[in-house]
Amino acid sequence: MAEEKMDALLDYAGQKVETVVDTNRKMRVGIIGCGWIADAHVDSYKRMPDVEIVAGADLIPGKAAAFFKKHGVEGVKTDYASHKEMLDDESLQLDAVSICTYNRQHAGPAIYALQKGVHVMLEKPFTVTLDEAIEVMKAEKESGKILSIGFQPRLDPNMQMIKKIVESGELGQIYYIQTGGGRRRGIPTPFPEVTFIRDETAGLGALADIGCYSLDMVLNAIGYPKPLTVTGYKSDFFGKNPTTYPDNPEYAAKFGVDDFAAAFIRLEGGIILDFRIAWAMNINTPGDTIILGTQGGLRIPSTDCWNGSVGGPMTIYKTIGGINYETQVPIINDGGPSLFDRKIRSFLDACKNGGKAPVPTSQIIYNQAILDGIAKSAKLGREIEIEIPQV
Ligand SMILES: NC(=O)c1ccc[n+]([C@@H]2O[C@H](COP(=O)([O-])OP(=O)(O)OC[C@H]3O[C@@H](n4cnc5c(N)ncnc54)[C@H](O)[C@@H]3O)[C@@H](O)[C@H]2O)c1
Repeated sequence: MAEEKMDALLDYAGQKVETVVDTNRKMRVGIIGCGWIADAHVDSYKRMPDVEIVAGADLIPGKAAAFFKKHGVEGVKTDYASHKEMLDDESLQLDAVSICTYNRQHAGPAIYALQKGVHVMLEKPFTVTLDEAIEVMKAEKESGKILSIGFQPRLDPNMQMIKKIVESGELGQIYYIQTGGGRRRGIPTPFPEVTFIRDETAGLGALADIGCYSLDMVLNAIGYPKPLTVTGYKSDFFGKNPTTYPDNPEYAAKFGVDDFAAAFIRLEGGIILDFRIAWAMNINTPGDTIILGTQGGLRIPSTDCWNGSVGGPMTIYKTIGGINYETQVPIINDGGPSLFDRKIRSFLDACKNGGKAPVPTSQIIYNQAILDGIAKSAKLGREIEIEIPQV
């Protein structure tokens, strides 16, 4: 059997495992959406010895061809008007696709790919609405294929440490979590098509773009309990203000999503989740993430530019024999592959070995239900119950 050793990767329990990759049969991969994040997907696939990138599609004529030329990947078929034409091309014999389209184009291509029997690596957030996510899950179930969602921060050993601390029981029963983060000024507009700020393409703003990471950090740590109710708020004071973009004041008129969101969410098990997220705000940070339990507390420092990472050494607070103790948890750097390589490798391994999706829809549906609940509650101006249809 042809095989190649790769750098040690971390498994999901945080243990180092040596990955031996069977290169006998290469996975035939296609890229849907050749914009900014597709760069990271292609860079990772190029480092995988058992992958052949065979096709790419983008709605903008010529964009896919230019994209693969820039990456120096030859022999890739790109003459497709959209994901549909690419997935209809049976000559490609696609095994898997990365869906790197803007949020409003997550559900359609994911469903179509699954219906064609192709494994899917879908970028975060899962979708824009809960209804879309449910439709994707139905297609996933019918197809029996792997669908993993692109939350690479989960594969950060520091993130995994948060889960380990909670699972150790040292914090006791968790009853309150505060999470979120943001940037003083950081509305993402560096793309010619400004897809992040337009409602027709993004659907949701900071809430989904970076809020989904904050939610995943804490929900994954506590085992993804079901969300029950939510009171949500969204605003767009900065996005709609031309002075936010001195060089491009015209962006203000294009801004159709949120630049700030906050929510109070009740989770199954009597846990309260207090959440806020910002692309722009007049403060340095809306606060660290804190997890409060009956036996201890955990503080996870925020970052200047919330992108799903731990901002510094964490602190565990305990009171033993009437004395207050604080223990620092140093930042871990395991020297292993990039988080993106871990994300792509774990997805490929699941496809090849018939395992479970590394970031499964069964968890992220709760993340999506919260995003959707915040948007709905904000519109109605009151608390709502979260109802998640069975798939
Ligand atoms: N995991 C991460 O670290 C990370 C980082 C940035 C962005 N993202 C996510 O990646 C997604 C894309 O973000 P981006 O910054 O690359 O956006 P982008 O606008 O730069 O690229 C999206 C591309 O998809 C194309 N497209 C849209 N619908 C299509 C379809 N049906 N068929 C073919 N092409 C289609 C567009 O024409 C565009 O070129 C977003 O959902 C975003 O949240 C993830």
